[in-house]
Amino acid sequence: MADDKRVVVLVSGHGSNLQALLDAAAERGSGMTVVLVGADRPGAFGLERARRAGVDTAVVRPADHPDRPSFDLALRDVVAAARPDVVCLAGFMRILGPAFVGAFSDRILNTHPSLLPAFRGAHAVRDALAYGVKVTGCTVHLVDEQVDHGPVLFQAAVPVEPGDDEDRLHGRIKQEEHRLLPLAVRLVAEGRVRVEGRRARIVAAEEVAR
Ligand code: GAR
Repeated sequence: MADDKRVVVLVSGHGSNLQALLDAAAERGSGMTVVLVGADRPGAFGLERARRAGVDTAVVRPADHPDRPSFDLALRDVVAAARPDVVCLAGFMRILGPAFVGAFSDRILNTHPSLLPAFRGAHAVRDALAYGVKVTGCTVHLVDEQVDHGPVLFQAAVPVEPGDDEDRLHGRIKQEEHRLLPLAVRLVAEGRVRVEGRRARIVAAEEVAR
């Protein structure tokens, strides 16, 4: 719909979180549309999911840029051209620099498969298992200039079960991400998230105009 909130999703891989967003956006009266799916590699299956849903795609490869700041600027320009209300990192495995983060400040969401600040980085599920924790989970948070760091919007705990391997545990964590990420995207899109220092506060719809 013309007045839907515009969501850009960045992916690097499988894209099950992207699929959760596409499904949520496709619901009647969702008020949001995924307008672009971007990836850092052409083989990301998330791009295929986007194509199947009729959503525009873009690939910005680090290898096509001389350094990280120029990759950052190129990605920023591609995303900005889609005029997003929300930018969602859904399994996007690149660190975004200040040029990107500053362009969409307080409008970038990330989902991470641990209870931050525990187990930052690219192997959170493996690291949690190796540490021997009994409970892990996921965190949906706003993105700032530090890795896996910005204000937390939602977390869900997932118990580690006997016999879990990385895939099995990650599968259960993803079920929680699929529930929370669309909710968080909608709240940011509707302007219902206020950031005060490290805290993200959700306000009632009636408070938004104030
Ligand atoms: C998700 O579990 C997400 O939290 C994680 O990658 C997975 C992507 O799954 N992201 C990170 O680890 C970022 N540090 P998906 O491609 O099936 O949505």
